[in-house]
Amino acid sequence: MEERGTWWREAKFGMFIHWGLYALLAGSYAGRESGGNAEWIMHDLHIPPEEYRTLAGRFDPVDFDADAIVRLCREAGMRYIVFTAKHHDGFAMYHSRASRYNIVDATPFGRDVAMELKRACDRHGVRLCFYYSQAQDWDHPGGLEEGKTVSPQAFQGYLEQKCLPQVRELLEGYGPLGLVWYDTPMDMPRADCLRMRDLVRTLQPDCLVSGRVGHELGDYMTTGDDFIPLLACDGPFEVPATMNGTWGYAAGRRRWKRPEAMVRDLVRIVSRGGNYLLNVGPDARGSLPRESVEALRAIGRFMRLNGESIYATRPVPTYPYDIEWGYFTARPGKLYIHVFEDMPEIYLINMGNTPLRAYLLADGTPLTVVERETCEHVHSWRIALPEGRAGEIDTVICVEVAEAEIRFEPLGK
Ligand code: GLC
Repeated sequence: MEERGTWWREAKFGMFIHWGLYALLAGSYAGRESGGNAEWIMHDLHIPPEEYRTLAGRFDPVDFDADAIVRLCREAGMRYIVFTAKHHDGFAMYHSRASRYNIVDATPFGRDVAMELKRACDRHGVRLCFYYSQAQDWDHPGGLEEGKTVSPQAFQGYLEQKCLPQVRELLEGYGPLGLVWYDTPMDMPRADCLRMRDLVRTLQPDCLVSGRVGHELGDYMTTGDDFIPLLACDGPFEVPATMNGTWGYAAGRRRWKRPEAMVRDLVRIVSRGGNYLLNVGPDARGSLPRESVEALRAIGRFMRLNGESIYATRPVPTYPYDIEWGYFTARPGKLYIHVFEDMPEIYLINMGNTPLRAYLLADGTPLTVVERETCEHVHSWRIALPEGRAGEIDTVICVEVAEAEIRFEPLGK
């Protein structure tokens, strides 16, 4: 990833926002639960387009407050927002001139929420990015949909009439974008995926393209939903993740992840070189679920004290042991040790650097580092941890060393 991706590699943590007409249904329709991702309800419950479109006449999210959402994003320590400009259902959550099936022209609400988010992002120093479903469009006859046969000619018609003009207006109408988050390329030919990527490159050369543009043409690898790579990856990657098993708002979905679990996922992902794109799904009035707000505030408390161990860090791929209690991140001259278990001490084994000093990152409490050599000539540094850390999600130790590069010797040397 070239220079254009520096801000993204350093940001590490972003907010995904899935919001659309499906929020009105909140996961159920005509007495039936969709059960799956709530934003898929039109497809999963086979709602005919002409019936689904009537939702627009009822969409009036009077509680939507872009500034409050972007301030919460910053409070959580997130550095970018990816907003669903058009999802698979084909409804545009911005003022599209290419299709009147959009939040300004087709709803009583009549406001361009994408523009309101843009202005709030500008005010609060958050990068605005757009999600766009380039292949699936369940409203346009030429749009793709699982289980539906669409002729190549019809799909080209959809690309020319709706998809390309809408991506163009997003790239021309909302200022500099951080990235375009394409999704589910389905069986789009490589030439069409190339057109989607090159449209971004042409209109905004500094704008990134997500891995789901297809045919590995993205600027980074997008993992499966909620899937975290086991090992550090060679290239940049991003893990899109839900808080409660659905991207769109679902009233009955109660399987909320605990904030401490999401902090651990953030650290785990960053320790392997990736970004964490954590989702919120506003409801039909434009409000975020209480559980989402509370979780983001808890994550923010961790990030305020320990963000240095996350932002602009890199993995430590050479640690030779599989450890249960935590993870490592690093920057030149500094190793960050993330301790998730309540342990009296930790050992750095086979470290190729000599610690100069160690301390708790959150408050600078100095820690004692003692060198040890076992009779089997295994060399380690022992760091004692202070008592009374109960309730801390992740105790971050910073170890400063003289060298820029943190390294550990492989076993058996
Ligand atoms: C999947 C879902 C889509 C969601 C996306 C987020 O592609 O189909 O609804 O927006 O994951 O990663």
